[in-house]
Amino acid sequence: VSDPLETVRGVQELRARVAEWRAGGLSVGLVPTMGALHAGHMALVHASITAMDRTIVSLFVNPKQFAPSEDLDSYPRDEDTDKSMLKTAGAQLLYAPEAGEVYGEGFSTAVTVSGLGDILEGEFRPGFFNGVATVVAKLLSQCRPDRAFFGEKDYQQLLVVRRMARDLDLGVDITGVETVREADGLALSSRNAYLTAAERETAPLLHQTIQGVAERIEAGADPAGEESAAMDTLIEAGFGPVDYACVRDATTLGFYLGSGTAGRVLAAARLGRARLIDNVAIAPA
Ligand code: PAF
Repeated sequence: VSDPLETVRGVQELRARVAEWRAGGLSVGLVPTMGALHAGHMALVHASITAMDRTIVSLFVNPKQFAPSEDLDSYPRDEDTDKSMLKTAGAQLLYAPEAGEVYGEGFSTAVTVSGLGDILEGEFRPGFFNGVATVVAKLLSQCRPDRAFFGEKDYQQLLVVRRMARDLDLGVDITGVETVREADGLALSSRNAYLTAAERETAPLLHQTIQGVAERIEAGADPAGEESAAMDTLIEAGFGPVDYACVRDATTLGFYLGSGTAGRVLAAARLGRARLIDNVAIAPA
């Protein structure tokens, strides 16, 4: 029989609970989130509940990963609904710290993942991956899980966090979980709430476009031609600016090395108030 959901706001209490679990020989999973939970987050929670004895979900809207021009203040927040979803799913602990519990007085450390963190999202959102890597390092250190679960929807984030965990010998396994989509292909995201009804009709084209690119590349098409055709398709449909639509190596996000290797098509584009990102796999031939 599983423990009921407990909400913890302080790191001391958190560590005491995790220590108790460990002393009992139980494995611990962490699902880091910024709340406003949807079925995409719940897939991570279910993956952890299935694989681990105890599941912690963290809820922290991390100011360090928002640029001053971004939506920190208006980012959707609904802790009560998040709690009831986690209770129903069967998670054991919600870690919902105040900002001061994560970034204490005089906090001056930043974690930078060079190279991987500077391209694509890193280029269009300078400082974003520093903010993500810093908070994830902090949350992993506070929670000390055996495994942490991240969505493939933020594919570059998953690779950045995995690199950081390996480089710093954090001793935690970083597990990726497949993207959850609406029936029409739109990847679930808390920021989809910003789409108007008309934009919501257009939004699935992002996934359709990159899926088409992946299929044609698998059939031998030229990556550069596919990238520019995808940009044109998205711009014509009303996305803009389109930050990138590109074909990359699935492990390094450097140049795609051709058939026989795993690739990834990644895209990011603004649609009205929302900035949508998505990616799909290119299977090795
Ligand atoms: O993907 C997110 O929601 C955030 O970037 C994360 C991993 C919770 C760090 O704040």
